[in-house]
Amino acid sequence: MKDVTLKFQDHLTVGEFADRAGVSAPTLRFYEKRGLITSERTSGNQRRYSRAELRRVAFIRTAQKVGLSLDEIASALAELPDARTPNKADWQRLSSRWQDRLNAKIRTLENLRDELTNCIGCGCLSLKSCAIANRYDELAAQGPGPRRLLNT
Ligand code: FES
Repeated sequence: MKDVTLKFQDHLTVGEFADRAGVSAPTLRFYEKRGLITSERTSGNQRRYSRAELRRVAFIRTAQKVGLSLDEIASALAELPDARTPNKADWQRLSSRWQDRLNAKIRTLENLRDELTNCIGCGCLSLKSCAIANRYDELAAQGPGPRRLLNT
């Protein structure tokens, strides 16, 4: 079992930071190269990450999971203050911009869960109740893809 003894130092080594953040060291280097996180160098030229950077990594990982691109994430993170650790208001302002988008994604996923679960193993394609039925491909006029599942 891994030793999870908490160390409350302000700056963590790459390994310590990677373990705590739940990402690999190469991922941290990638994030840093993209300007998403920053590190400091010791006199021996070793990276040290401020504990405050953990929140940025958590934000990056969460934003990726909800479908935001790294460019969008970078743009959002660029709005955070450099001179101080971002506070609650900074993070709230940043995440509030994505409320509508996140809510739409949640609705789509809920719809997908509810409608698709009904169809898996059913196969009836009932014109009255099936979410994936599309007689004569009438929904093509609305655009590509599964229109009923996406238009929520
Ligand atoms: S296939 Fe039967 S409800 Fe969709």
